Amino acid sequence: MIHQLVYYSRNTVPGDGRAMLTNMREILSASQRNNSRDGITGFLIFDKTWFVQILEGERAMVTGTYNRIARDPRHTAAAIINVSDVEARLFPNWTMGGAMRTPEVQEIYLQHGFGGPLEPSRLKSKQIVDLALDLQAFEVAKRQNARLAS
Ligand SMILES: Cc1cc2nc3c(=O)[nH]c(=O)nc-3n(C[C@H](O)[C@H](O)[C@H](O)COP(=O)(O)O)c2cc1C
Repeated sequence: MIHQLVYYSRNTVPGDGRAMLTNMREILSASQRNNSRDGITGFLIFDKTWFVQILEGERAMVTGTYNRIARDPRHTAAAIINVSDVEARLFPNWTMGGAMRTPEVQEIYLQHGFGGPLEPSRLKSKQIVDLALDLQAFEVAKRQNARLAS
């Protein structure tokens, strides 16, 4: 069984797009390094206000990773939305995928009923997982197209 944890938190990283991107690159590179060591996979959705993250892996590793993340000063008020044991990983190929909300993916948010800002306190984990899966698919297609074009 794979343990899955979904949480959200408030992004406290100051600054606009550029500062946020630099910061996110740091978070994602540390995540990829640690998560590949710990057998964790998942996906991180974020905008300038919120983080919503799915972590999956062995239970003790997921719990340990979440506890470390929750203490990170780059966000605050981390709140778990759902934990469950699932048959298989949803993001087997992603030590941590990340998708910032940009105009490019606004269509995907709309398809999932998110016209306005995310309000994570009202979200169900299924909505988050479905959105993350579509954002993941978009990222994969974008990379494939970039490869074909080069
Ligand atoms: C929103 C958010 C998500 C994060 N996700 C992960 C993660 O999936 N895995 C991880 O190891 N660290 C994650 N981090 C970073 C950790 O809080 C912490 O900085 C890092 O694990 C420390 O790693 P290091 O001791 O190797 O530098 C995240 C941080 C934030 C703010």
